[in-house]
Amino acid sequence: MSALELINVRKRYGTVETLKGIDLSLASGEFLVLLGPSGCGKSTLLNIIAGLAEASQGDVRIGDRSVTGVHPKDRDIAMVFQSYALYPNMSVARNIGFGLEMRNVPAAVRTEAVQKAAKILQIENLLGRKPSELSGGQRQRVAIGRALVRDPQVFLFDEPLSNLDAKLRMEMRTELKRLHQMLGTTIVYVTHDQIEAMTLATRIAVMRDGQIEQLATPDEIYNRPATRYVASFVGSPPMNMLDATVADGIAHIDGSLSGIPLPQALRENAASVRDVIIGIRPESLTLASSENAGLAIEAKVDVVELTGPELVVTSTIGSQRLTASLPPRSQIAVGTSQRFNIDASALHIFDKATGKRV
Ligand SMILES: Nc1ncnc2c1ncn2[C@@H]1O[C@H](COP(=O)(O)OP(=O)(O)OP(=O)(O)O)[C@@H](O)[C@H]1O
Ligand SMILES: [Mg+2]
Repeated sequence: MSALELINVRKRYGTVETLKGIDLSLASGEFLVLLGPSGCGKSTLLNIIAGLAEASQGDVRIGDRSVTGVHPKDRDIAMVFQSYALYPNMSVARNIGFGLEMRNVPAAVRTEAVQKAAKILQIENLLGRKPSELSGGQRQRVAIGRALVRDPQVFLFDEPLSNLDAKLRMEMRTELKRLHQMLGTTIVYVTHDQIEAMTLATRIAVMRDGQIEQLATPDEIYNRPATRYVASFVGSPPMNMLDATVADGIAHIDGSLSGIPLPQALRENAASVRDVIIGIRPESLTLASSENAGLAIEAKVDVVELTGPELVVTSTIGSQRLTASLPPRSQIAVGTSQRFNIDASALHIFDKATGKRV
């Protein structure tokens, strides 16, 4: 049985199609992250699952029951929004339990549920306070607590951490991961933060213009992106995308004199494609020395930036840019020509015309 299933979900606003046919099936306990740029339809899809918006076409099934036409409160879901409006005049405890109060759950049961949620979220000592007496991260926990007491089949989160500062975001991210490991609930989580997606998800759906471009584990999304778009969406610094032409199994990067002989596996696939994009993650590049021959490209070093854990080297091949993430103590001089070795197994090749992985 799948915990959540979307079948050809479409959404039109007037003549504009915002969701262009979403199909998706989630097993119980999955943590699905919807990842994509602003306006690609993430919130629209989440709202349709929640019942806050209606699909123009298609079906949503929660726990093998069609919920099309079912009121949000009867869908057995709980949602946490980006702006987690808490009731300012109510205590933390009452805020958390308010949904249950509205459902006429007896006070004793309510208190127990609130205590349990507070314990999980480590806010037991805050239950008597008002929201104005809490930090941003604590308020966020109260909002999650409100969802938690409902013990729903599916949790829906819409960018719940985007109002927090960087440090708090990281802490709450870890908290959410811990929570999911502990409760094993099914979660759909919207974000445009690739790090959140990579760290939290059991699977990521990378969205583009109302469609899912790739649905896969974080490992696959990172290491075998299906398209150039997906490849450029995850990773920091982003993947290098070099224009190149393939002839006789050799990729000639525009602006570079030397060719990159393609590994055998790629050679066959790339046979029919001449104009390609060669994708190389910055961390797949290493400084070449005379001892390590192998695959290499030469580039002129423009900028060297020490971020702390790594040295980010920006260089150029003709008019194309190449970024490398190197160990912090690497010896490299600005203005010089430098050979970089490439891990052949880490080459990504995309058809330039379609953007698809070769
Ligand atoms: N009520 C509406 N009427 C008309 N168009 C809408 C409506 N709601 C959303 N849209 C449009 O649908 C598209 C998707 O919006 P949505 O809110 O789902 O994007 P999103 O991926 O959540 O973006 P963000 O990251 O900015 O929150 C946008 O182009 C938006 O302008
Ligand atoms: Mg949104």
